[in-house]
Amino acid sequence: MRRNSKGFLLFVILAVFALIAAGCNSGGGEEGSGSGSSSAVDIGIVLPTKDEPRWVQDEERFKAALADSDYSTEILFSQGSSAKEKENVEALLNKGIKVLIITPHDGAAAAAAVEAAKQDDVTVIAYDRLITDTDAVDYYVTFDSLAVGAAQAQYLVDNAEGSGVPLYLYAGASSDNNAFLFFQGAWEVLQPKIADGTFKIANSSQAEALKDTKELNRDQLSQIIGQVTTNWDPNESKNKAQTHLTSVGDDMKGNVAILAPNDGTARSIADVFASDTAVTDYLITGQDAEKASVQYIIDEKQSMTVFKDVRTLVEDAMGMAVEIMDGNTPETTGSYDNGMTEVKAKQTDVIVVDKENVKAELIDSEYYKADEFTGLE
Ligand code: BGC
Repeated sequence: MRRNSKGFLLFVILAVFALIAAGCNSGGGEEGSGSGSSSAVDIGIVLPTKDEPRWVQDEERFKAALADSDYSTEILFSQGSSAKEKENVEALLNKGIKVLIITPHDGAAAAAAVEAAKQDDVTVIAYDRLITDTDAVDYYVTFDSLAVGAAQAQYLVDNAEGSGVPLYLYAGASSDNNAFLFFQGAWEVLQPKIADGTFKIANSSQAEALKDTKELNRDQLSQIIGQVTTNWDPNESKNKAQTHLTSVGDDMKGNVAILAPNDGTARSIADVFASDTAVTDYLITGQDAEKASVQYIIDEKQSMTVFKDVRTLVEDAMGMAVEIMDGNTPETTGSYDNGMTEVKAKQTDVIVVDKENVKAELIDSEYYKADEFTGLE
């Protein structure tokens, strides 16, 4: 009896310690989550920010995919800070990860974080955004980002009416390699239509200066992106759009076309154009099929979005990570030049969604539920 109660006391003490340890584990990072319950983690996942629905979406899809994984994982968010991102990577290295899946906040600044991972013999998979100017990235899983930009531009070309249509250009953050790919893909489709007078550029002297050049080099892209960047920030997008509309005459209003790089920026820009009485109608692009933009498309406030099925990207990234954990070489379909090396890549196609096919592509495919929207036909 005495012996038993001592044993019980020891058990209680150990249990209390275990609880405290578990508390530190999840409390230490509000952003921490995943299927790993002990402090040892096999696969670390670092996403850029919780402030954009796109990345919360990725987190949800990762969690769904991880539910029946044999390996323990942890997901951390960097909240738009390269310093926080490096801390996250270090925290995961301390937990003994073997594979790091990371979407950098800033593609060049993330080199230091992945170099630290490489020194620990961790295999690095860049997820959606490439990490540039380092050889410490092993694989890249991505959508076809040139095709995203091309699809946005093609939508404007196919749906613009008449000629001399004012064209407003917006781009993503220049710290994100994807912003270059999206803009490059779009420009190759738009440039001939600017040259033949279908569109006239409304808001970028840099684009105007380069309007006869179909294939822009990185520096030329940089000049335009630097001028029309949204920094992926809805507020910055709104301010820029307001400034642009204030500084043009009525000849740059009427029926207009707007290249908006993603859904978050598209909604902000669309709201500004919708509230200008001299703008009679506007076409505006987007990407990500965020729920709020799907509703905007149903309500005819946003013209299209490029649907990137995050389920596929998550599946590819996790599939790759598991192959690596199992000691195999993952399958790749091509490669991307990151400025220092050719990174082996697996690429996924994208789908254009507008009011016509929104139900078929997003509801019938069970990506979203019909009752998450109103006015869906
Ligand atoms: C992603 C987009 C996203 C954007 C802003 C890009 O790198 O590919 O899907 O909308 O970042 O977060």
